[in-house]
Amino acid sequence: QARDARDGGPMTAPTPPSSPRVRSGRSSFVVAIDGPAASGKSSTAQWVAERLGFRHVDSGALYRAATAVALERSGESFDEPAVLAGAQQISLQPVQHSFVPVWRGAEMEAMIRAPEVTRQVSRVAQMQGVRAWVNAHVRLAAEGQHVVVDGRDIGTVVFPAADLKVFLVADPWERARRRLIQRLERSPSDSEIAEETERLVQRDARDATQTVQAKDAVLIDTTYLTQEEQVERIVSLVRVLRPGL
Ligand code: CDP
Repeated sequence: QARDARDGGPMTAPTPPSSPRVRSGRSSFVVAIDGPAASGKSSTAQWVAERLGFRHVDSGALYRAATAVALERSGESFDEPAVLAGAQQISLQPVQHSFVPVWRGAEMEAMIRAPEVTRQVSRVAQMQGVRAWVNAHVRLAAEGQHVVVDGRDIGTVVFPAADLKVFLVADPWERARRRLIQRLERSPSDSEIAEETERLVQRDARDATQTVQAKDAVLIDTTYLTQEEQVERIVSLVRVLRPGL
């Protein structure tokens, strides 16, 4: 609980004023990956973590988990106290290079990707208590190890002193196409992509206040990049900043 008070505050290790992003050679390395809906943050973060032997922390999965539990417990009529009460029942368990939210002893992966959760999650993400709850969990999970953390405000609010900040963008049509291929496991039709594009830009609009590009973030437009290329760019940036990793 005490960690909540740090919400929006600086990261644990103080950084030298002359060189705000370079921290001592032995400290843990934090890569922050932010960007709009379906910009490929989570899959890229997971892949980068595997390549570098870091751990991936997906903050969006926690917003989704809080939303899924709220929907289970109260239907759509939930308010902030109800969401927070449900969130207290969620834990984050380390699994291989990542963490998964667990509720009532079960991994929540399928539950948090449900369309109803995607529709409601921006509303939950606007609740300040929920943001504090997510940020506390993310910081705790990241403590003492090299991590790749993805979300909307990681480089600005959660880890403003991250060693490397990346902001991923891509054309909405392309983001919609990729999200559908992932979900349907086949090529989507143009009308399916058009519908998904509409849903994505609506969600971008609802998430606009919490999606912030840090001034010191490297912008990567992935519209014309393969997943391998975007992962390679981030891995190369990490190795320039911290040779030997
Ligand atoms: O679908 P996508 O991968 O883009 O989203 P996600 O990363 O799973 O995040 C789901 C939702 O959580 C977003 O639409 C935001 O409303 C919220 N979120 C946030 O507000 N701040 C974060 N750091 C991460 C996610």
